[in-house]
Amino acid sequence: MKFGLFLFIVGVGISLSAHDVFSTKITWSREISRIIDKRCASCHREGGSSFALTTFEQARPWAKAIKEEVLERRMPPFGAIKGFGDLADDEALTQEEIHLIADWVEGGSPEGDPALLDKNPEYGPHSKRNPKTGAEVVVHGTLTLKHPLTIAALRPKNLKQGSSVKVVADSPASAIEPLLWVYNYRPEFDRTYYLRTPLTLPAGARIETFPPDSDIALFSK
Ligand code: HEC
Repeated sequence: MKFGLFLFIVGVGISLSAHDVFSTKITWSREISRIIDKRCASCHREGGSSFALTTFEQARPWAKAIKEEVLERRMPPFGAIKGFGDLADDEALTQEEIHLIADWVEGGSPEGDPALLDKNPEYGPHSKRNPKTGAEVVVHGTLTLKHPLTIAALRPKNLKQGSSVKVVADSPASAIEPLLWVYNYRPEFDRTYYLRTPLTLPAGARIETFPPDSDIALFSK
């Protein structure tokens, strides 16, 4: 019982501070619009792949949803499980950006002074990196390498909405190496996954996909 009362009191404290109007110095015009421009607006703009969030009027009604999506790390979409494989992941928000957004929303989402807006915003994120060569090998189930192969990037092919696929490399001389785990695939978030550093596998190594009926394109370096 004592424990329950303690939780209750803590809960009241949190909800009181969260409902103060404008209890934050973070504003749309100064901080948040810049984060959205850089991290979200290549999709969330007029004419983009999703609804626009580039003005205060557009973003304000979405404030709570924006906070939730970034705290849960559902936005910007990545589609792969982090930590399974060593993927380059430029587009994830920094912890500081996430804190700024959460503070702004909890503080009542103030607009601030529009004079502080970036007059010529550049909308990101954009993937600037492309596979260095056109060499593409498609793995369907298991591929045993006849020659050494250096993998720079992977891309799921023909995955069904909602399906998941894991890709691992199994070299004779070393432990099984996780490469990529795409989880709950969404066609609108289709992308190429780059390894942080290209991985060279010897002849005889096997690349395996689970479930085995999934197609994965490998891009060599
Ligand atoms: C690669 C494109 C892309 C990027 C980048 C992106 N989004 Fe999204 N976002 C989408 C799409 C597509 C949807 C619609 C998903 C759906 O249909 O449910 C969406 C949905 C949302 C939703 C609504 C979720 C819901 O259903 O309640 C919010 C809020 C959101 N995005 C915020 C953001 C924020 C904030 C960022 C940047 C930090 C961001 N998004 C970056 C494509 C993107």
